[in-house]
Amino acid sequence: MAQNKDELLKQRILSVVDDLSVEWIKEKIDEFARLMTYYRCAMMEIETKFNVLNEEYSLAYDRNPINSIKTRLKSFPSIKEKLERKGVSDSIESIEQNLNDIAGVRVICSFPEDVYELANALLKQDDIELIEKKDYIKNPKPNGYRSLHIIVGIPIFLVHEKRIMKVEIQLRTIAMDFWASLEHQLRYKKDTTFTKEMANELLECAEMSAKLDNKMDILRKKVLS
Ligand code: GTP
Ligand code: MG
Repeated sequence: MAQNKDELLKQRILSVVDDLSVEWIKEKIDEFARLMTYYRCAMMEIETKFNVLNEEYSLAYDRNPINSIKTRLKSFPSIKEKLERKGVSDSIESIEQNLNDIAGVRVICSFPEDVYELANALLKQDDIELIEKKDYIKNPKPNGYRSLHIIVGIPIFLVHEKRIMKVEIQLRTIAMDFWASLEHQLRYKKDTTFTKEMANELLECAEMSAKLDNKMDILRKKVLS
């Protein structure tokens, strides 16, 4: 059924555009697919770097600071929406220049201190360039959101060239991640209005989760000292 729909769409497109335009469209699609592949490679590089750090901690301290790593590539509709929102062109160059979060890596850590240790260990590496840092742990967002965001440039090595790609890395604890994913679900719930009271309750939950993180960090220091 889906294939039939795709086929119909293809035929409709082919009936309204000439051969030259078809070539042009194909080229654009190829260019975009290539760019997405580069971002995927950059994401893989970053993920590997964190896995290596986790292994090293495991050897040296017999514990894993990373609970899990998630990666995501921004979808085409989200890319289009963000370019429109920013009022910039939708060329390949513009995507690379104006969007920092096409490639996203989320690192979920056990303790708040791990967040900073891992971020610093990554930023010390000589192939990593820091482009932007937002510390929403030291300065949480007004709604209570906490995480450490860094945008880095990382080289990927292709057959004939080296390219620097941008990757957005979000580092957070399990408690921060728990809050952020529930808040996201609640805020984007269809057909319901998000009241001020609800926002206040969420902020209270964020404060409770920050307290929990602090308590766990203190406990960790006691156990490990
Ligand atoms: P965007 O246009 O959304 O990318 O904003 P920005 O460029 O100012 O970036 P910022 O660092 O503030 O946030 C980027 C990402 O962090 C978002 O796409 C979310 O994944 C996450 N984030 C930021 N604020 C919140 C929040 O209040 N709640 C949740 N659940 N996630 C958030
Ligand atoms: Mg974003």
